[in-house]
Amino acid sequence: MKILFYMPHADAAAWLHDFARALPEADLREWQPGDTAPADFAVVWRPPREMLAGRDDLRAIFNLGAGVDAILALESEQPGILPRNAQLIRLEDTGMAPQMAEYVAHAVLRYLRRFDEYQTLQSERRWEVLEPHPRETFTVGVLGLGVLGAHVAQTLAGFGMPVRGYSRGARHIEGITTFAGEAQFDAFLDGVKVLVNLLPHTPDTAGVLNARTFSKLARGAYLINVARGGHLVEQDLLEALASGQLAAATLDVFREEPLPPDHLFWREPRITITPHISALTLREESVAQVARKITALARGETVSGVVNIERGY
Ligand code: NAP
Ligand code: GLV
Repeated sequence: MKILFYMPHADAAAWLHDFARALPEADLREWQPGDTAPADFAVVWRPPREMLAGRDDLRAIFNLGAGVDAILALESEQPGILPRNAQLIRLEDTGMAPQMAEYVAHAVLRYLRRFDEYQTLQSERRWEVLEPHPRETFTVGVLGLGVLGAHVAQTLAGFGMPVRGYSRGARHIEGITTFAGEAQFDAFLDGVKVLVNLLPHTPDTAGVLNARTFSKLARGAYLINVARGGHLVEQDLLEALASGQLAAATLDVFREEPLPPDHLFWREPRITITPHISALTLREESVAQVARKITALARGETVSGVVNIERGY
């Protein structure tokens, strides 16, 4: 079987080496511009249009991340560009869920225990005890209860704070109060103190972090966006911080990445910025999962993680 690999800024030799060990019978190559030679599978992250166009020989495209928005954007910009018969398959966890739980738990605990404020007090050499946030009303709402959101929600529930989760279809998760669908969106948001976004970026979820959404949260709420920059209406965040409706935000993802040096977010001390690192694609785990699924598909079996193109995730 022939496998094409494309992952910009990665150590392609190391990835190909690991794939060759996992799939010794495969004929693997890194895609280069102009390569239109036959292939059965493509393993990619943010592929250029040219790589996928007209490749009707592909049986499956493996996305080396959980979010498939970049690939689906190619299709919405130029309908028909995705190979007709290829399944699009995304990574499922591959070590991202524990990373995401660490990142989000760190931010939530920082807000709960008021570490940002203690840091400011320290810089002023002030020894002052702040009124603790009561844990029982420090409600965390997790948007998206998929592979990552469900794990994050359960991790947070372990700290004893009330945790709510929101998904498209109804979900039952031990210890989490769940809400589903647009009809329950406002009830989910009502009084939430920390809003965590782990939705996929689709036409239905674009811009969901907006002034209306913020207005339903508890006054002085916190925002943690670890999904996609396109979920956030940036001006609405700045205005919500200015009005005090939001107290602070932790952002790992941005509409434009890298975040341009002159972006207003860099100058807002209440916004914590990280460079899209909350859950990195891990080579060993990803190669193992993709290789296992390629083997299964080659045997004619079905696999999980297949993207529903209509739904967008
Ligand atoms: P997933 O398993 O596909 O879960 C998606 C969740 O969102 C599901 O619970 C789904 O509901 C819900 N959802 C989708 N559309 C919705 C809508 N319109 N209304 C309400 N709920 C909706 O995805 P995942 O693996 O958890 O990953 C989530 C996202 O995290 C990715 O798409 C990616 O953008 C982001 N991510 C970021 C990083 C980073 O480093 N910053 C790393 C990895 C992933 P149902 O359960 O009903 O289907
Ligand atoms: C990273 O952002 C991913 O979608 O895996």
